[in-house]
Amino acid sequence: MCGIVAYIGDGQAIPVLIDSLKMLEYRGYDSAGVTIFNDTLETYKVAGRIKELEKVIPESVKGNVGIGHTRWATHGKPETRNAHPHLSSNISVVHNGIIENYLELKERLIGLGYEFQSDTDTEVIAHLLHFNMNQEGGRSLLEGLKETVKELNGSYAIGAMCNENADMIAFARKDSPLVIGIGKGNNYAASDVTAFLKHTKEVIFINDNEIGLLRPDSIEIYDMEGNSVSRDTETIEWDLEAAEKAGYEHFMLKEIHEQPTSIQNTFAGKLSELEGNVTLEELYLSKEEIKRLKRATIIACGTSWNAGILGKYLFEKLAGIHTDIETASEFRYSNPVLCGEELTIAITQSGETADTLAAVRSSTSYGCRSIAITNVVGSTITRESDSVLYTRAGPEIGVAATKTFTAQLIVLYMLAINLGRARGVISADEAKDLIVAIKRLPGQIQKVLSRKDTINECAVQFADKRDYFFIGRYLNFPVALEGALKLKEISYIHAEGYAAGELKHGPLALITDETPVVAIATKGHTYEKILSNIKEVKARNATVIAVADDDDTEIEKYVDVVIRVPSTHELLAPVLSSVALQLLSYYTALAKDCSIDKPRNLAKSVTVE
Ligand code: F6R
Repeated sequence: MCGIVAYIGDGQAIPVLIDSLKMLEYRGYDSAGVTIFNDTLETYKVAGRIKELEKVIPESVKGNVGIGHTRWATHGKPETRNAHPHLSSNISVVHNGIIENYLELKERLIGLGYEFQSDTDTEVIAHLLHFNMNQEGGRSLLEGLKETVKELNGSYAIGAMCNENADMIAFARKDSPLVIGIGKGNNYAASDVTAFLKHTKEVIFINDNEIGLLRPDSIEIYDMEGNSVSRDTETIEWDLEAAEKAGYEHFMLKEIHEQPTSIQNTFAGKLSELEGNVTLEELYLSKEEIKRLKRATIIACGTSWNAGILGKYLFEKLAGIHTDIETASEFRYSNPVLCGEELTIAITQSGETADTLAAVRSSTSYGCRSIAITNVVGSTITRESDSVLYTRAGPEIGVAATKTFTAQLIVLYMLAINLGRARGVISADEAKDLIVAIKRLPGQIQKVLSRKDTINECAVQFADKRDYFFIGRYLNFPVALEGALKLKEISYIHAEGYAAGELKHGPLALITDETPVVAIATKGHTYEKILSNIKEVKARNATVIAVADDDDTEIEKYVDVVIRVPSTHELLAPVLSSVALQLLSYYTALAKDCSIDKPRNLAKSVTVE
């Protein structure tokens, strides 16, 4: 899990590479490095963030060609010697992914006399490239890289340069993202478009098993047989400003505040109030196929998995489809019983989560139709699924998912309504009620955001606690899970999300007057039940913070603190409660002075198992 960048053109490469790497720090930030051609290849690297890297590059270093890397350790500790680029004599390589057969290759290369400086899997690519370029009377950088990737098992996006071909950068991709940016007299490559958006919006997404060359004025792409591949250029619609903090102290806070707009973008053009229907043109399932559906499996990780639990409840209630929700890392190694008629729904904001991709591949190998719900256009999942429903939340830089989560919820509501209408499970009027309520959400989220000071006060009051519990029932259960996940990842407070009815089966033993319990108690058919659970924890002296509707007049009698959210359709309350809990986590982490946008040990895009 790393970010790679490459630049070749008529400008100075160092400032471009440094800027680009800063934009990619969300992909990993434990070490970084660059190689630049300054009469000969010069490499600078550090253990630490990009700002540390800047300090070690002398101002005298000039050059128009370079590659860079920001790392999140997978093989070898975050130390300078393990930072990329990795070198083999006259060759320099950056890599995102994992080379699964690296030990075998390393042994062979050591036998051939190569000396290894690092513990990484990437260094084998550099030496293997060197070896291959020196066979058969000498091969070009491109030919050498082609021979090299043929021997690699695993995933990679590679950028490579060498002294002898200093007017070009070679690249290759398999199972790790790689996108080319096209400028005028300048070309770029990176793991993500944000890296070079400042310079160009014209891009080409590189596909798996493609390889190519960047020169200042040309881009060559080939398949593994050496055939030239021609590809249309795509234009990125969002601009760099969208990827910057826009005045907020943290990306996370900015992204929380973007939710009225981001969810509006998610449902724009899809909701027909008049007909009581949701139009999903991107859904390649005929009405007949939808009617025949018997079972669906939702596959996801982390926050996306929490969204998936809500999806399960919605598909069952609104579309009458038996739905399983699976953690991707478990699903891929279990023995799923699939007959090929099930629908697989993968939820992944990045579209690059290795476990989710592998789980989807496993289910589609049984012949299952698949739908991907993702935020990243051109990401790997989009190329591996029959239908793609984009969340259109815009770039999310904060490591903790916020606006992509609520956008996922909106897509799940829309999909459930669409399927439910096609299957005749819900009426046009029922769908209409939901659609009207969905359209009111942006304004209601705005209301939740306007109450941030009250939520901040609550956060500060309990910021010194060691443990937190979040409880909810039915649709509020995934809200509890997500509230707990958010709090633990950014504030480092231990937090458990529980189905409230499960407390008395064990966890109640942990409840004391030192354990704040957040009860998601919006109105609905489990409201009375959650009140009973609140009484259970109050009897153990817990302080209870309730998330409750504006029109709930009795909740104050039972709890210590109330966080209010506007009243809405029972099924939609999770969106508003989740925004309130995002703010609670944010302000708790702020009070504790935590690294909010880049929590320790975490990265935005988990492209390794
Ligand atoms: C937590 C968070 C993670 C991701 C998980 C899956 O805030 O963001 O739990 O949800 O790593 O990522 P995606 O959705 O990209 O597959």
